[in-house]
Amino acid sequence: MAETGQISSTTQASGGATGPPQDAVHPLPVHPLYVRITHWINALAILIMIGSGWQIYNASPLFAFTFPKGLTLGGWLAGGLLWHFAAMWLLIVNGLVYVTLGLATGRFRHRFLPIRPTEVVHDLGSALTGRLRHDDLSRYNAVQKLLYAGILLTGVVIVASGFAIWKPVQLRELAALFGGYEGARLVHFFAMAAIVLFLVLHVVMALLVPKSLRAMIRGR
Ligand code: HEM
Repeated sequence: MAETGQISSTTQASGGATGPPQDAVHPLPVHPLYVRITHWINALAILIMIGSGWQIYNASPLFAFTFPKGLTLGGWLAGGLLWHFAAMWLLIVNGLVYVTLGLATGRFRHRFLPIRPTEVVHDLGSALTGRLRHDDLSRYNAVQKLLYAGILLTGVVIVASGFAIWKPVQLRELAALFGGYEGARLVHFFAMAAIVLFLVLHVVMALLVPKSLRAMIRGR
């Protein structure tokens, strides 16, 4: 699938040779429909996972703080667990659709690669001094590439560590990868923290560049 913002194509009217030729420019959407649908389902699933995860954390805190009750979901431990497991399946199935189509269509390669450290440093400098341009929404700058590829990997880590906490006996090899049950809990917590940090930056950027938000909703 072509990953350019715009292509020209010549179409023939259904009336055959007698019909008027319809030479038209068909702009491809900046984000294909599957990306937009999976993105917003993912956003919903992540918000439920975070709210219910904070509820579960509060029942047995890892650190010397708990999350404000008003930011938690589920009302109590069992309620939090129910929300967490329900949204987990939504997150996983939706994520698999997004990743499978992203790999199969070559979109990941075109959109997220290559990530060159020199370009990241350059684009970060431009972003911090307000000189980053957003004319072509069909191409990500190096900082976006790094953040999006990074958040995809974080997604894999948070799901894997979550499974290790959920079934530490049956999945003991997986739990061992994280240094056991307690290690998996720590990894799960810090992956959550990374996602929350990403989310705050990501939403601020989307609000600062509203046309990028429109493109993620309407495609254009
Ligand atoms: C609920 C608030 C959210 C808003 C308003 C939002 C908004 C956006 C917008 C506007 C874009 C397009 C950015 C661009 O063109 O540069 C985008 C892309 C993206 N967002 Fe979000 N997002 C949200 C939540 C999330 C969450 C929770 C995640 C993952 C944890 C996420 C991951 C991504 C990724 C990976 C992309 C790139 C998608 C691709 O091109 O395949 N977003 N988001």
